Amino acid sequence: MFTREHQLRESFLTMMALLAFLSGCAGLKESKTILPIREYEKMIVGNLDADYIGTQNCLAACHEHDRLRLAFDASTMGAQLQKDSGMPLVDCESCHGPGSLAVKGLTPELVETNAGKGIRTACDFQTLIDLKSLPATAQSLICLKCHTANATFNLHNWNAGLHAVNEVSCFACHNVHAGPDLKVTPLASGQLCFTCHQSAQAQFSMPSHHPLKEGRVFCVDCHNPHGGFADQGLLQDGIKETCVQCHPDKRGPFLYEHADVVENCLNCHSPHGSVNSKLLNAREPFLCLQCHEGHRINKEEGGSISAERARAFYTRCTDCHSTIHGSDVPSTAGGGRFIR
Ligand code: HEC
Ligand code: HEC
Ligand code: HEC
Ligand code: HEC
Ligand code: HEC
Ligand code: HEC
Ligand code: HEC
Ligand code: HEC
Ligand code: HEC
Repeated sequence: MFTREHQLRESFLTMMALLAFLSGCAGLKESKTILPIREYEKMIVGNLDADYIGTQNCLAACHEHDRLRLAFDASTMGAQLQKDSGMPLVDCESCHGPGSLAVKGLTPELVETNAGKGIRTACDFQTLIDLKSLPATAQSLICLKCHTANATFNLHNWNAGLHAVNEVSCFACHNVHAGPDLKVTPLASGQLCFTCHQSAQAQFSMPSHHPLKEGRVFCVDCHNPHGGFADQGLLQDGIKETCVQCHPDKRGPFLYEHADVVENCLNCHSPHGSVNSKLLNAREPFLCLQCHEGHRINKEEGGSISAERARAFYTRCTDCHSTIHGSDVPSTAGGGRFIR
């Protein structure tokens, strides 16, 4: 028998788990003063005494950066270097700032003479923008001066998203010089996200989980890493919209709806993973008993209840209420009981 006491204990345990979870989250964001946007803009202008000289001149004396340049030229951003593309020019100085001072006095002859003496010649890179040391907001501004919300629609909500607010910059996820592929592929996104989201990693390792590690579902199927329009950076308008993209049979509308409970799939399911089967928040019957009283069945469809059915009552409500997500078929009593 599941008494009210059992129910209370269940909800107490849930509360405790929730509290433990919430206290684990606290303290992630350190408070730092947010400077006026002008201050960040100044940081990204670069050396005011220097002039823009173009990639050709920047790299004329030097083979040190050949690999970077080849990869960059092959990338979507580098492809813009073609003058006839009609797109804004993206070159080394777009991000690193004007380079005339950095290469002042650097000639191919000097580089060669030094090489002969076993000396590597570096440009005076300290006159360039110190990208690594900029505050996250300024780092992102470097990219956002071109990737405005109009140019890159996905970035529409960037400033309001939790990543921007928590000082995760574009650099954290996009390594411009890792290779020609600037975009993070869905498959690579999992590993990338796990570097900071260990709790999500743990959830996707639970006995029941969305097949992320199996390569069939990706973080970016549900989340916009740039901040979505719904809570939790979701791509779609809300929870149900997120889920029914891939589970259209649960969309409805049904003749017999489970009140508005199914509007929020998370009333019963955990989105990443769960210790319970079918991603359920709690095992049956506890799941259902959070909102319902248990009940006895003395008669079923005209006959008496079998021993097997009687046992089922205490374990799985959905053995009988199998169309729990909604149904178009009335029960024998003419109501919507989700039994067929
Ligand atoms: C879209 C912006 C962007 C463009 C364009 C760009 N870089 Fe970078 N570059 C960066 C960022 C961001 C870093 C890394 C800062 C950090 O380590 O956090 C970086 C780092 C570097 C480094 C340091 C070494 C390394 O590999 O991390 C060199 C050298 C460099 N860039 C050269 C170049 C050259 C040469 C070009 C032109 C072919 C170029 N960059 C174009 C953004 C850019
Ligand atoms: C000078 C302008 C400019 C700057 C600065 C700039 N970008 Fe770009 N970026 C472009 C253009 C133009 C494209 C190619 C067109 C497009 O995809 O929007 C592009 C393409 C990209 C793409 C690939 C899009 C795709 O679909 O393959 C990524 C990712 C990207 N940029 C990230 C960054 C990051 C991160 C930064 C800052 C470190 C940055 N960009 C700075 C202009 C810029
Ligand atoms: C938390 C990680 C993360 C951060 C931070 C991030 N991105 Fe992305 N970005 C991604 C991923 C993942 C994709 C691939 C999205 C996909 O496949 O749907 C992507 C895709 C893109 C694209 C490709 C075009 C598009 O619309 O999908 C551009 C351009 C881009 N990002 C620019 C930026 C800029 C600029 C910033 C900083 C303002 C930034 N990103 C910050 C993870 C990130
Ligand atoms: C099937 C869709 C789906 C996939 C795939 C998914 N998420 Fe989520 N995620 C959600 C939903 C829905 C929520 C909202 C949970 C809530 O409101 O309680 C969420 C919440 C979150 C949160 C905030 C709450 C928390 O648990 O800390 C983070 C962080 C997060 N997801 C990261 C990730 C990462 C990282 C990945 C990939 C490894 C991922 N998610 C894949 C649907 C998904
Ligand atoms: C450099 C660390 C870092 C990386 C990489 C990173 N995140 Fe985050 N993420 C954070 C921080 C910090 C927060 C804010 C604190 C929190 O809620 O955990 C956050 C919050 C979130 C949230 C909460 C809800 C919201 O409104 O955005 C989601 C969802 C999320 N990240 C998804 C992702 C996904 C998906 C990826 C991979 C594409 C990713 N994160 C990569 C650091 C990171
Ligand atoms: C990108 C597609 C996609 C999205 C979005 C998605 N799912 Fe799934 N879901 C899957 C796949 C794939 C499976 C595995 C099906 C299989 O193994 O046959 C699955 C399985 C499930 C299962 C059964 C798990 C099990 O152990 O058998 C449940 C429950 C579920 N999803 C609920 C949800 C909920 C709730 C949401 C919204 C938060 C959601 N799904 C969003 C693709 C998705
Ligand atoms: C009232 C609780 C409840 C709500 C709300 C709920 N589910 Fe379920 N769901 C269940 C139960 C219980 C099971 C397991 C049934 C079983 O074991 O046969 C299940 C199973 C599933 C499955 C796997 C089996 C199948 O039928 O395909 C998917 C997928 C699923 N739910 C998706 C969703 C989606 C999407 C939503 C939101 C639109 C949602 N659920 C809302 C209780 C719920
Ligand atoms: C978050 C709360 C919640 C959860 C969890 C929940 N339900 Fe419900 N359920 C409701 C509400 C609210 C109604 C509509 C109440 C009404 O009309 O009397 C309802 C209606 C029903 C009905 C139909 C009653 C009727 O009058 O037609 C059945 C049967 C039912 N639920 C079974 C279940 C089962 C089985 C589970 C577990 C898999 C479950 N519910 C989980 C809230 C919940
Ligand atoms: C042996 C099959 C069976 C099991 C197991 C079962 N039910 Fe039912 N349930 C029924 C039948 C049959 C009805 C009445 C259908 C009708 O009115 O036609 C019903 C009705 C309901 C109603 C509507 C009651 C009302 O008074 O309107 C709710 C709510 C409900 N069940 C919840 C549950 C919950 C919660 C569990 C698990 C603890 C559960 N059921 C287990 C067969 C079952």
